[in-house]
Amino acid sequence: MQRTLSIIKPDGVRKQVIGRVVSMFEEKGIRVVGIKMLCLTKEKAMGFYRVHKDRPFFDSLTTFMSSGPVVAMVLEGEDVIDRVRDIMGATDPKKAAGGTIRNMYASDIEKNIVHGSDSPESAAAEIPYFFSEMEMG
Ligand code: CMP
Repeated sequence: MQRTLSIIKPDGVRKQVIGRVVSMFEEKGIRVVGIKMLCLTKEKAMGFYRVHKDRPFFDSLTTFMSSGPVVAMVLEGEDVIDRVRDIMGATDPKKAAGGTIRNMYASDIEKNIVHGSDSPESAAAEIPYFFSEMEMG
């Protein structure tokens, strides 16, 4: 059994697709073991995306991520890291396969509705960034 960190980004909350995104994970048998709404400060967003700090989109991405509430989730299941990434679709919604979350709801490569950890190492760092043991079922 594996865990991953997913975030419904400010565009997903604004578009009122929280329930639809959570359903797309649950319908595939993925379990929500932690969930909360948060308003990230610019600093908290910068810390979360620190691996991208040298990318040209870092400032814009962290401004966007701190522009409104997000929903952070810990998801659990077999092979859940890769399965969540498949359900989300490609980072760039123009390249995301039909039926994926980003294909259906995202508008551009930055405002792409949802985040998911990209590896077991990322998940191990990202889950405790938002959740304590007590906050996970
Ligand atoms: P996410 O899966 O949260 O991981 C890093 C984020 O950076 C990504 O989703 C996008 O929101 C953003 N991102 C990645 N590539 C680009 C890019 N070329 N231009 C703007 N934003 C990007």
